[in-house]
Amino acid sequence: MNDTRDMLRFTTAGSVDDGKSTLIGRLLFDSKAIFQDQMEALEHSSKLRGEEDVNLALLTDGLRAEREQGITIDVAYRYFSTPKRKFIIADTPGHEQYTRNMVTGASTADLAVILIDARLGVLTQSKRHGFLASLLGIPHLLVAVNKMDLVGWSQERFEEIADVYAEFSEKLKIHDISFIPVSALMGDNIVEHGGRMDWYDGPTVLHYLEHLTIAADRNLTDFRFPVQYVIRPDQNFRGFAGRAASGSVSPGEEVTALPSGRSTRIKGIHTAEGEMESARAGDSVCLTLEDEIDLSRGEMLVRSHNLPEVGTQLDAMVCWMDEFAPLKLNSPYVLRHTTREVQAFVRTLAYRVDVNTLHRDREALSLELNDIGRLSLETSRPLFFDSYESNRETGGFILIDPATNKTVGAGIIRGAARDVPRLGPNHTEEVEKSANVVWHSGKIGLEERIERNGHRPACYWFTGLSGSGKSTLARAYEKRLFDAGRQVFVIDGDNVRHGLNGDLGFTAEDREENIRRVGHVARLMYEAGFIVLCCFISPTRALRDFVRSLFPEGDFREVHVRCGLEECIARDPKGLYKKALAGEIPNFTGVSAPYEEPERAEYIIETARGSVEECVDELFQPGSADGVAQQG
Ligand code: ADX
Repeated sequence: MNDTRDMLRFTTAGSVDDGKSTLIGRLLFDSKAIFQDQMEALEHSSKLRGEEDVNLALLTDGLRAEREQGITIDVAYRYFSTPKRKFIIADTPGHEQYTRNMVTGASTADLAVILIDARLGVLTQSKRHGFLASLLGIPHLLVAVNKMDLVGWSQERFEEIADVYAEFSEKLKIHDISFIPVSALMGDNIVEHGGRMDWYDGPTVLHYLEHLTIAADRNLTDFRFPVQYVIRPDQNFRGFAGRAASGSVSPGEEVTALPSGRSTRIKGIHTAEGEMESARAGDSVCLTLEDEIDLSRGEMLVRSHNLPEVGTQLDAMVCWMDEFAPLKLNSPYVLRHTTREVQAFVRTLAYRVDVNTLHRDREALSLELNDIGRLSLETSRPLFFDSYESNRETGGFILIDPATNKTVGAGIIRGAARDVPRLGPNHTEEVEKSANVVWHSGKIGLEERIERNGHRPACYWFTGLSGSGKSTLARAYEKRLFDAGRQVFVIDGDNVRHGLNGDLGFTAEDREENIRRVGHVARLMYEAGFIVLCCFISPTRALRDFVRSLFPEGDFREVHVRCGLEECIARDPKGLYKKALAGEIPNFTGVSAPYEEPERAEYIIETARGSVEECVDELFQPGSADGVAQQG
């Protein structure tokens, strides 16, 4: 219990057959970190396999292995100790999935050990692991050049490999990198030098592991306490259980609860062993507060004068982990961050990194297994986060596919996204103005609304020329849906321009602002469970794609209300074409301002071809799951 030896956490990464298991086995064996009974079991199983010598690779499989709770990735945490130090190895078995395993195991690592086969030299994997180690902020990197016995213990070969790798790593943010030539199989330079590589006068692997200085690498400044659950045995006690992600706190100190922003002081710090004077990063405790404050799972206690960022827009690097489905933009994922789970949409992919050259591919459209890219995300509720660089706990997250519950991505937060899709440069100021606004979410989720309504919400976006029949069609469709028991509402250009958007005209900029506001209103009504029917000329594809990006994939349906300009002019229901053609209305769509036809509308309705009811028939399908027509 009172063991004061410190703990070193490291990950091991290599490629297939580079001798990783043998290296770990050798380390344990030669440092006598295994017990006699384990040794006998090992000799026994090696014999069963018909092997003369003890197969050290089998040892790693026999060690106590644990899976991190809740994360569905194969990372085995193995423990061993020497008189000097305790060690946790995040051992990442699996072959092709090496990257994602390493990402999962590395988030708390002090050191990454990368194995390179001396015969093969620096491979793509070796570079990928170095890049990941730097991305994940692992402070130390040890490159073990293995199988030196198979290259005749050649100093030249070792130096060649070390030079290539050192040159590559100069481009990375790694401050401390070391190289050791080893033979895991024979034991050279693992625990003892062995005498066959006299030209090498550096430390052995074990010496390196035992003497690496790590104390300064941890974040003990920023107190972050994500609440796991509330403990309330009776009316008189109310405590918040969780693990301090970083920093430290003591009774009497002022803390702020997020998202409410209410401040109070720490009253007590409780553990199973009794009360504590302070809680530090990594401690699992139950905190009591001076004042009654409502806090639940996923919320956070922080030091009042040191707040994390709060927001729904993230700028992040993500490593994709799904071998089947690539990353999908604007499609809903579950984002798990500390003890909080929220819905998240990837809005833009800025670039994909080529790990070999570190080149940024800005044309990339998606990420596939093991790809790493920079992207912006939008979450349905605000997160309390830090940049990964300043806090590995509150700066990291994983993405989960809600359909399969599989972890599909691991991400690190660079900061709040400033490049979220918005309409043109004119709006940055407006976004800055509301930077400190916190989104409040209620106690009723969309799922509950869907259940009560008996259907999913959706946004239908009717676009087309003035006079093409958008409003007429939408009103008739609204009636049909309403009669069929749907929650439905029409938002119409002419109406909105009388109130909410009465300050806007028809310049390109004003139209942009018009659609931006309406898009967000439609999104709110969608959150309220409605099928929202919007009728707006919305003359450019960029405008319509912007609104599309606000909705989960499949729930936004563009309806191209198609009608030739001649026909619209002939109809001229409001007499506006007449005026526009006479030059009395500037910027009139179709006459003196452009209209870009949709390229990927879900529906194309020709209003000149049939009656209004026939047009509605094309949209309405009473038998379908959500009561409205399916796409395509
Ligand atoms: S949008 O381009 O910003 O999407 P919106 O659909 O809101 O336009 O408004 C279009 C309606 O405003 C038309 O149906 C018409 O009645 C009226 N209107 C007035 N001036 C113009 C104009 N210059 N161009 C187009 N529509 C106009």
